[in-house]
Amino acid sequence: MSQYAIRTEHLSRAFGALRAVEDLTLEVPAGILFGFLGPNGAGKTTTIRLLLGLLPPTAGTAFVLGYDVRTQANAIRARCGALLEHAGLYERLSAADNLEFFGRVARLPRDERQARIRQLLTDLGLWERRGEPVVTWSRGMKQKLAIARALLHRPDLLFLDEPTAGLDAVSAAALREDLVRLARQEGITIFLTTHNLSEAERLCQQVAVIREGRLLAVGSPEALRRQRRAPVHLVTSGLTPAVLEGLRATFGVEVIQSGEADGHWAVNLGPQQSVAPLVAYLVQHGVAVEEVRREHVSLEEVFLSLVQENEHAE
Ligand SMILES: Nc1ncnc2c1ncn2[C@@H]1O[C@H](COP(=O)(O)OP(=O)(O)O)[C@@H](O)[C@H]1O
Ligand SMILES: [Mg+2]
Repeated sequence: MSQYAIRTEHLSRAFGALRAVEDLTLEVPAGILFGFLGPNGAGKTTTIRLLLGLLPPTAGTAFVLGYDVRTQANAIRARCGALLEHAGLYERLSAADNLEFFGRVARLPRDERQARIRQLLTDLGLWERRGEPVVTWSRGMKQKLAIARALLHRPDLLFLDEPTAGLDAVSAAALREDLVRLARQEGITIFLTTHNLSEAERLCQQVAVIREGRLLAVGSPEALRRQRRAPVHLVTSGLTPAVLEGLRATFGVEVIQSGEADGHWAVNLGPQQSVAPLVAYLVQHGVAVEEVRREHVSLEEVFLSLVQENEHAE
């Protein structure tokens, strides 16, 4: 298989005048958990539908597992699993009967089907309850069953559209753990959409951020965080106005009094700028540096500033 599970080139989809997905060029490496992030209406679900060949692009193209979404949708659907907004389970049937049914639809031979159902339900902690009608289950259990269903035919790529939406915090955390374990155990690529940034930060090796159909950023959560200006807090004594001016001029940084007490400063470093030379400069100029603390920038803050910057740009 190619190095990329998904490759899109200028992929676009309009609904009348609305550009739901606009000029999306993206590569998703095989074998990772990839997060596709964006606020409601950003175009996440539309992108998944395009990638599964459920909706034709209005421009551009995409290759999923090497297959062209425009002409090879059947091959794509045979090699991919998906959990979309509606789980599509038969509520009156038991969990085991649901999987039995979907396993037959997927034409899995009997022995293989039964072994696979047992393995997945056991992995997800649902085996003991396989005989219960799904209608009696919690939303978290139903989501797990829907994921088992999507994995039945051993897909290479799994699409999950907001899998933890509507779950309480405990069920969501349990589902996330299962996802990480399954991804590793099955060696598959997972393409997961979410508007929950801390979820993406915990789960995903790489993320893309979209808004109004446009890609704003892509990379590891760590790399995206590093692109942001992370304020550094300094506690100093003996910092004179002259040295302060020198510091600003030499490093081109913004230094503001942080208001906690005398000698507390917040320095806004540029991307990739290190704090060590600033500290050395201060020490050389007779300033005592008592504390240096770099503020943690969460993916959530990165996301919000990306979205805001983008608004200003328009
Ligand atoms: N079938 C459709 N017809 C018209 N507009 C649509 C259709 N599907 C999605 N949209 C619009 O496209 C935009 C992106 O929707 P969607 O992909 O569902 O966003 P997300 O999943 O990120 O919340 C929204 O403005 C939505 O209203
Ligand atoms: Mg959606």
